[in-house]
Amino acid sequence: MNTKEFAKRRKKLAQAIGKNSVAILPAASPKIRTGDTEYYYRPSSDFYYYTGYTEPDSLMILAPGRPEGEFILLVRPKDPLRETWDGYRSGPKGVIKDFGADQSYSIHDVDEFLSNLLQSTEKVFYTLGNDAIFDQKITQSINALRAKQRQGCSVPQEIISLESITHELRLIKSKFEVKLMKKAAKIAVEAHMRVMQECRQDLYEYQIEAGIIHQFRLHGAVPSYNSIVASGSNACTLHYVDNRAEMKSGKLLLTDAGCEFEMYASDITRTIPISGVFSKEQKAVYSIVLKAQKEAIASVKPGQTFKNLQSNAITTITKGLKKIGILKGNLNQLIEKEAYKTFYMHGIGHWLGMDVHDVGSYNNKKGDAREFEPGMVITVEPGIYISKKLKQVDNKWKGIGIRIEDDVLVTKNGNEVLSSKLPKEIADIEAAMVTV
Ligand code: GLY
Ligand code: MN
Ligand code: MN
Repeated sequence: MNTKEFAKRRKKLAQAIGKNSVAILPAASPKIRTGDTEYYYRPSSDFYYYTGYTEPDSLMILAPGRPEGEFILLVRPKDPLRETWDGYRSGPKGVIKDFGADQSYSIHDVDEFLSNLLQSTEKVFYTLGNDAIFDQKITQSINALRAKQRQGCSVPQEIISLESITHELRLIKSKFEVKLMKKAAKIAVEAHMRVMQECRQDLYEYQIEAGIIHQFRLHGAVPSYNSIVASGSNACTLHYVDNRAEMKSGKLLLTDAGCEFEMYASDITRTIPISGVFSKEQKAVYSIVLKAQKEAIASVKPGQTFKNLQSNAITTITKGLKKIGILKGNLNQLIEKEAYKTFYMHGIGHWLGMDVHDVGSYNNKKGDAREFEPGMVITVEPGIYISKKLKQVDNKWKGIGIRIEDDVLVTKNGNEVLSSKLPKEIADIEAAMVTV
C-alpha cells in the first residue's frame, strides 16, 4: 500500500479543518443481498480515500494537533474464530503497523472513545445522514457532554459537513490517482475491444457481458457499475441493464461498460454494428454523435465548463438531425424549443474518479458553471436515441440508439483521453470487428 499517498490526503484534510477540530468518518456497513448472503464488501469511497483500509465496521478519526495521536482508527478486534470463517482481520495493532494509524482501538470501544474525544473539541466535521447508527452515536455523545456542562465539561460548538471538504479534495486527482485511472481505462478498453471481436448476431446480450466481466476479472478489476449491453432499440433505454435480448443482424449494439481498479473507475461507451458493418442510416446518425463528441473533447482544457460542452453538443446534434431530416425548422428556434431533447436527453458528461459519477460540486461559489482545472477527470458522452415510439420519425431511423463515451483527464494545457486506444471512427470499428 502507498501509505505516503494516504498520509498526504490526511494532511490536506488536517489543514482544512485546523486544530481543536476532529473529523469523524465511518466506513460503509456491509449490505445484505438476500437471506444471509452479503454483497461483496466495498468501503465507502471517502473512508478509503483517507485510510486505504478496506475492512468493514471501522471508524476514522482525524484530530489535528492532538498530542496522543492525530490519526486514529477504530477497527474490528482480532478474533481467531471469526477469522476462520470470514478471513483475516488487521486488528488494532495491525492498522498501526500497516496503515500508519497513530493510535487504534477496538470498534467496540467507540462510545467511550467518542465521549472522551469530544470533550476537548470545538468543531466536529461529520456528515449527517449517511449512517443512521453513527448519527445517533455522535448526537448522543454531544448531548451527554451538554448534560455535564455545569460540571465544567466543554461541548463542541459546531457540527460541520465533512463531505464538502472531502469531495473537493477528491475532485482533483493526484499523479498516483491518475495512474490508477489510466489502468482502469486500459482494462475497460481491452474489454470493449473484446466486445468488438466477439460481437455477432444470435448471441445474447449477456454473453457479451460475460466477456466484459471476464476481461475485468483477469486484471483484478470489477465492474464500476452494471454494464449496459443494449442491442437494437434497447439502446434507447438509457439505463438498460437487463442484457437478456438476442442480438439481431442489421442492428446496433451499444455497450456502456467500465471497471473499478483499486477503487478507481472507468466509464466507456461504444456503439457498433452487430453484423460488423454500419448501414447508411446508422452511419448518418453515428457521424453526428461522433462529431459532437470529438468537438467536445477537443475543447476540454482548464477554464472550459460542462455547460459550454453541452451547449456546443446541442448545436451540433440539432444541426445534424436537421440535415438528415429528423428535425425540421429554424436551427435557433429548434434549440430554443429544446427539440433535441426528444433525441438527446442527458448531460454531456460528469466527474469520474473513485465513483463513476464522482463527487465534487458542478457549480462555483457564485452558482455558475465550474471551470475545469488540471487533475480533474471527466467523461464526454453525447448520444442520439431515436425511440421506436416516435410517430413523427421515418421508420428507417427508428430504434437507432447511439452513445460514444470517453474518459478525459484535464491537463495544464488541454487534455489527455484515457480511453483513446479504443476505436470510434466508423472505418476503425469495422476493421476491429473483422474476424479472420
Ligand atoms: N455509465 C453511466 C454513465 O455513463 O454515466
Ligand atoms: Mn458516464
Ligand atoms: Mn457510461
